[in-house]
Amino acid sequence: MKLRALVCILLQLTFELSACSDLQVLSGSTMELPCLSFQSDFIGGSITWKFNGKDVSAQMPGAPTVKKSGKSLYISHVTAANQGQYVCLINQDQMEIITTYNITVLESIIYYIKVTEGSDAQLPCNFPRSSNVKANALWFKETGAEKNRTLLNPEDVPTAEDNRVELMYPSDPDQTLLIRNVVMEDAGQYLCESAEGATLSSALIIVEVAPTRAAHTCIGFTTAWEPCQDENSRTEEPMLQESVTEFSMKLYSFLKDSQPSSNLLFSPISIGGALFHLLLGARSDTQKAIERALCVPHDFHCVHLQMKKLREKLAGSLQMASQIYYNPQMNLSKSFIDQSIQFYEAEPTRLLEASEENTRMINSWVANNTNNKIQHLVDSVSPGTQLMLLNAVSFSGQWKTKYEMKPRKRQFTKLTGDMVTVPVLYHQKYMAAVAHVVELKAQVARFALTGDSSLYILLPRSSTLTDLQQVEERMTDTAVHQMIEQLKAKAPQFTEVTLPKIKLDVQPDMNILIKKLGLTSLFEEPNLCGLYSEDRLVLDEARHRAFLALTEQGVEAAAATSASFSRSFPAFSALQPFIMLLWSDQTNVPLFIGRVTEP
Ligand SMILES: *[C@@H]1O[C@H](CO)[C@@H](O)[C@H](O)[C@H]1NC(C)=O
Ligand SMILES: *[C@@H]1O[C@H](CO)[C@@H](O)[C@H](O)[C@H]1NC(C)=O
Ligand SMILES: *[C@@H]1O[C@H](CO)[C@@H](O)[C@H](O)[C@H]1NC(C)=O
Ligand SMILES: *[C@@H]1O[C@H](CO)[C@@H](O)[C@H](O)[C@H]1NC(C)=O
Repeated sequence: MKLRALVCILLQLTFELSACSDLQVLSGSTMELPCLSFQSDFIGGSITWKFNGKDVSAQMPGAPTVKKSGKSLYISHVTAANQGQYVCLINQDQMEIITTYNITVLESIIYYIKVTEGSDAQLPCNFPRSSNVKANALWFKETGAEKNRTLLNPEDVPTAEDNRVELMYPSDPDQTLLIRNVVMEDAGQYLCESAEGATLSSALIIVEVAPTRAAHTCIGFTTAWEPCQDENSRTEEPMLQESVTEFSMKLYSFLKDSQPSSNLLFSPISIGGALFHLLLGARSDTQKAIERALCVPHDFHCVHLQMKKLREKLAGSLQMASQIYYNPQMNLSKSFIDQSIQFYEAEPTRLLEASEENTRMINSWVANNTNNKIQHLVDSVSPGTQLMLLNAVSFSGQWKTKYEMKPRKRQFTKLTGDMVTVPVLYHQKYMAAVAHVVELKAQVARFALTGDSSLYILLPRSSTLTDLQQVEERMTDTAVHQMIEQLKAKAPQFTEVTLPKIKLDVQPDMNILIKKLGLTSLFEEPNLCGLYSEDRLVLDEARHRAFLALTEQGVEAAAATSASFSRSFPAFSALQPFIMLLWSDQTNVPLFIGRVTEP
């Protein structure tokens, strides 16, 4: 998306500023150069295009093509070979019009980032998927006309000044740099390079003066979630289903990149359940951000009713529970409490006095609602915790065809090529639908379970990381939907099946996921006015834990998600000259007056 957006900018630039002849074009993009800034200026004559002095001919592959009877020059896939001087020559009876372009081809992406003073800037940089390197990109800032470089993330040098600058995901292919609390001096050119010196991206930061910041207020945002107008609409159920699938595949794509080769397990319906519940109390920009993260359209008023229906429909195989624990000193909004009960069957419950009691209570709730599959989700509940939002799901499905009880072992080939001996589920003649799904480059089998669910297993062409990644790359929501359709249409047939008996217990990093979902603002200044309006609540920590076991009988799975919020106190920092008054409130007179310019 970003790449496409940038290409558009460049295209617009070429058209709008065709008087400006020095242009930078991103390698791989599409370029169109107009011969005249306004096509309507053309009143006839012959047009010739030259590239580095030679007539443009479309003989060579990748060569520019002349379009609109010469009025523009088009290159569909810009490469370094296209760098140079382009001249358009119009010959009219007594006149020659010459337009010259100097094209520089950039190998990396340039981001133009506008930030307001005092806010945070995120500078994107990604290792290409093909690269094996997954960490330790180097970020530089270029200063002055000499383009002197300062390394921003030195490893050996103790981190500069105040930790304002950090990599958001240090050991991830995503090497986004975060600059907190941007000051005017941060404006300028930044470069992200691999250790070998290849430029991965560059960013130009433009800093704008901050408007005076308003204090936290919920005025205008405390109304209840708008009710659903058409409870029986037929279009809204598929709308939610599509959103949930899109959201799920998005989560998978973030997690697969973060952990390219380890075991992975999460329950999108549990993470989604917690976020949908939070959405009930989110307003304004926070509401929009959560809606975007969940892939639901803005102002989808029936979303909570549809979630309730979805939960009820799933109840035969998956039980979902939600809960809110809150600090008794907090006045939760009445409408939020009512709607929490109505849509999520969650009656907000008070937190207890002691931290340890709360930790026990929350882990006990999680255990009770995951069929004891997850007995420990949170390590502690800090005394400052104001609100804890929980979601738990528990799944149990029996195979329609059971596996043999006889214990067996087979060799499993790992990504590295190493073999390990593992216990397996085996059946010589299992009724299963199996198909090769071309779009996913995988062999897929569908194993029917009771409760109207199925387990799909996608097998890449080989046990290599490359083949695994090829499948993962292709797993978009559309492709997955098509796969499900294809397998459902396929009649089950006798198949010899061997599956490893697995037992997964995984805790993906939810704090990273939340940031990748575009919800960083939850940690900073969310608008949760629909939930609580007296202070600002900020997200402290989010957790997710998922469990899944394949046994001779079927699939047992559970997951739990938690998000804990604390109150954000407005900051007041007297780290600058100030004046003080020591005042007697009793007699209403000053006792001491002073000024500090040098503490
Ligand atoms: C185009 O770039 C070359 C090399 O950078 C430079 O010498 C030349 O003056 C430039 N021409 C124009 C028209 O800007
Ligand atoms: C850049 O580096 C050069 C040589 O190291 C030095 O002479 C110059 O003063 C530096 N300029 C800035 C703006 O720091
Ligand atoms: C909660 O509401 C009650 C009654 O409206 C009020 O007296 C109390 O001060 C409020 N609590 C807080 C922490 O603001
Ligand atoms: C969990 O279940 C047990 C046994 O039914 C019960 O005593 C306990 O209060 C439950 N815990 C929570 C937090 O609901």
